[in-house]
Amino acid sequence: MTTIRDYHERTKHSTASLRANRHSLDWDIQPLPFKIYPGLDPIALPRDLAPSPVAALDAIAALAPHRPDRAVPDLRTLAHLLHRSAGITRSRTYPGGHVMHFRAAACTGALYHIDLYLVCADLPDLPAGVYHFGPHDFALRRLRAGDHRAALVEATAGAAAVAAAPALLICTSTFWRNAWKYQARAYRHCFWDAGTMLANLLGVAAADGVAARVVLGFVDAAVNALLGLDTQREVALALVALGERPDGATGSHPPPQPPLALETVPLSTREVDYPLIRAAHTASSLATTAEVRAWHAAALGQAPPSAPAASVPLRPLAHPPDRSIDDVILHRGSTRRFARAAISFEQLSTALRSATHGTVGDWTAAPGRDGVAEPYLIVNAVDGLAAGTYVYHPASEVLEALRVGEVRQAAGFLDLGQELAADAAVNVYLLSDLERVLERLGERGYRVAQLESAIVGGKLYLAAYALGLGATGLTFFDDDVTHFFSPHASGKSVMFLIAAGVPARRARGG
Ligand SMILES: Cc1cc2nc3c(=O)[nH]c(=O)nc-3n(C[C@H](O)[C@H](O)[C@H](O)COP(=O)(O)O)c2cc1C
Repeated sequence: MTTIRDYHERTKHSTASLRANRHSLDWDIQPLPFKIYPGLDPIALPRDLAPSPVAALDAIAALAPHRPDRAVPDLRTLAHLLHRSAGITRSRTYPGGHVMHFRAAACTGALYHIDLYLVCADLPDLPAGVYHFGPHDFALRRLRAGDHRAALVEATAGAAAVAAAPALLICTSTFWRNAWKYQARAYRHCFWDAGTMLANLLGVAAADGVAARVVLGFVDAAVNALLGLDTQREVALALVALGERPDGATGSHPPPQPPLALETVPLSTREVDYPLIRAAHTASSLATTAEVRAWHAAALGQAPPSAPAASVPLRPLAHPPDRSIDDVILHRGSTRRFARAAISFEQLSTALRSATHGTVGDWTAAPGRDGVAEPYLIVNAVDGLAAGTYVYHPASEVLEALRVGEVRQAAGFLDLGQELAADAAVNVYLLSDLERVLERLGERGYRVAQLESAIVGGKLYLAAYALGLGATGLTFFDDDVTHFFSPHASGKSVMFLIAAGVPARRARGG
């Protein structure tokens, strides 16, 4: 068995694994949810962020055209992207005075272990450099001066989107900030929580007319070194190329890149290491540009799937709501309780279509149409669609019925027994045929399967709110879910779960 397969197997939830797990939260070593560089001066980001007039559902599906005046993003545009994907959107004071800051994108356990870094050329109002984004004071801090994009062009074996991008964002995870609660399963959460963040980022970039392309094929060590990461604890997960200079020039050679030794505030007095996480990350790393080139070639040589025979075509809303993406993000908050009320088939159709359309990554040839995440649905209460289970085919925009009948009870067991999935109108599970994906994309394919599923899940979150509904990510009993959707799903692995429906009470907005 490959290392990554082994990781996946060993971090599955089952009734037996939960019974056997003696882990309890050690509040004395709860990690800080921010990376703070005390020795670097903050560069304040503009806070007067103008909302985009583009409707959220169009932005999520990336239907808005790129704007020539945004080919090179300025600081205000970057501030908009950063705030709406990783910024603090609301705060809550608990009895005893503890203040909890919630962020724009949903995150497992609200532990916020994903950081964003910016690598850019000279922008109209920001000198070229490598910067860290600090959500705690909404500021950038410069880690390196000069234009270092050539290092990323080299690390991605000359990926066209990277070579043309005046600015790039890099997502990292600091494992301990999530593993404190979730132990080794935190490696899955790296991609889940980066995915919800990227769903926001891609939606806002589309609304702002900024080209954005996710890049997963890169030499890990080169990107980590550029950011000066302590790779035992923090690693780069994904790059996002922003903007597009028509001349495509990234400048000549990168400036010298001495190792960084920048002080950061300790996350807790002690940290617990989970070697399974590091092993999974090492196994799915790419070591050379030749490996990256071969990986890209394998990723793009995939045949589009064929449509099933017996199927229900989507029936999207003729006049979908036109709430802006800013309004959606600023008022999003995971639904804590669903009313057992129905949504319409038109709403479900609209959400599915937006969420599976338009994600542009270096592992897809046709945006959103040849991905590796397969949506399996539990339908509890959708007017115009029989209760039961379905699989959605994005390329042909049809639902294939698997089993008709009441499935609430099963739904409420599969999400670790939480009532949310039983009460929600619909549960969307993203499954992936890991055997096939790993055969084609090697162990790096695991990151693709997790991240793509989470981006689709994150877009469903946003689409639900754009439709005036509620949603929440959920965790699950892995093998029971596969068994439940079998024989259709047999052999497939569960990557992500999101439940959507009518909230019992409105989410608190920021
Ligand atoms: C992938 C994912 C899985 C989640 N799983 C659960 C879950 O099993 N149970 C739950 O109550 N909330 C779950 N959540 C919701 C988070 O607890 C929530 O996002 C976090 O507390 C931040 O709050 P907010 O989404 O309202 O901003 C999940 C969120 C994500 C993104």
